[in-house]
Amino acid sequence: MKRAKITVVGAGNVGATTAHWCASMELGDIVVLDIPQAGDMPKGKALDLMQSAPIMGFDSNIIGTNDYADTANSDVVVITAGIPRKPGMSRDDLLATNAGIVASVSEQIKQTSPNAIVIVVSNPLDAMVQQAQMSTGFPHARVIGQAGVLDTARYRTFIAMELGCSVEDVSAMLLGGHGDTMVPMPSCTSVGGIPLNQLLPESRIAELVDRARHGGAEIVGLLKTGSAYYAPAAATAQMVEAIVKDKKRLIPCAAYCDQEYGVGGFYVGVPVILGSNGVEKIIELNLSGQEQADFQKSVDAVLDLVKTMNGLMASAGVA
Ligand code: NAI
Ligand code: 2OP
Repeated sequence: MKRAKITVVGAGNVGATTAHWCASMELGDIVVLDIPQAGDMPKGKALDLMQSAPIMGFDSNIIGTNDYADTANSDVVVITAGIPRKPGMSRDDLLATNAGIVASVSEQIKQTSPNAIVIVVSNPLDAMVQQAQMSTGFPHARVIGQAGVLDTARYRTFIAMELGCSVEDVSAMLLGGHGDTMVPMPSCTSVGGIPLNQLLPESRIAELVDRARHGGAEIVGLLKTGSAYYAPAAATAQMVEAIVKDKKRLIPCAAYCDQEYGVGGFYVGVPVILGSNGVEKIIELNLSGQEQADFQKSVDAVLDLVKTMNGLMASAGVA
């Protein structure tokens, strides 16, 4: 059977680490692309990764490039191109710069890999995935944002640390945008099948939810030179795996919701079935009054961001 072709645009921290996880999981052959100003850096990272193959035991072919011709006919394209957060910056501060970058990358993908499924990682995530869909013109199901897998992984990690149990036994879901208004769902969180509220008091759950909500800023504050990349890249690789292996994982992703949840035509984090066709189904949960209010607040924050982005792009003359 033919190996999947996976392109990662942006060979920085998240991009190179995504290539690393995808190779070690043998998900396919990988092309890592960065801008010409980055010089041979993507080639260097790709060759270095290839030389780990005999030790780690994977057979993926990995190349680095500055030329979209090398990415032609990719099955999956991951967009990590852009600038990351520095201390004191919010994800939204990245809006104008990254919208321009994601638009230009998407134009290239549209020409070179017209059938690809696109996973957007660049921030601010919910606006960037919207921009990628508008610039590629691809069906909504084939343009998806990565945030929820990372955010739930943080939440699951903190719960496992608190309970002293395996992270594998913690199952969780969250909704909303990738920002401070994200909505972890204690009602959809269980450990070994036991509802979380039978294991921890409400007050402690609220503290863990808050830590997950600010999980990205916590890492930025520690690193001081950029933002998280190991866990974001692992989350992205899990989405690539769901697509190339048609696993039909039920995971939270930024997906286009129109009627769903009454969102009205925007990308926001919701539970989806992810498989070889991209988003194959959006799962609608019955939300409690508070969960619905929190979700709406998060959706409103995403809408504000998208409107600001559309205004900036229109004044810059970009569709
Ligand atoms: P980085 O600075 O290490 O790498 C970004 C790379 O993008 C650089 O190598 C740069 O040369 C490249 N780039 C810039 N413009 C480009 C273009 N037009 N075409 C191709 N490549 C281009 O940044 P890092 O840490 O890898 O973060 C990348 C993005 O991912 C940031 O926007 C960051 O905020 C976001 N991010 C999103 C997460 C999520 O969960 N959605 C989690 C972590 C980061
Ligand atoms: C994160 O959550 C910065 O969005 C990035 O780590």
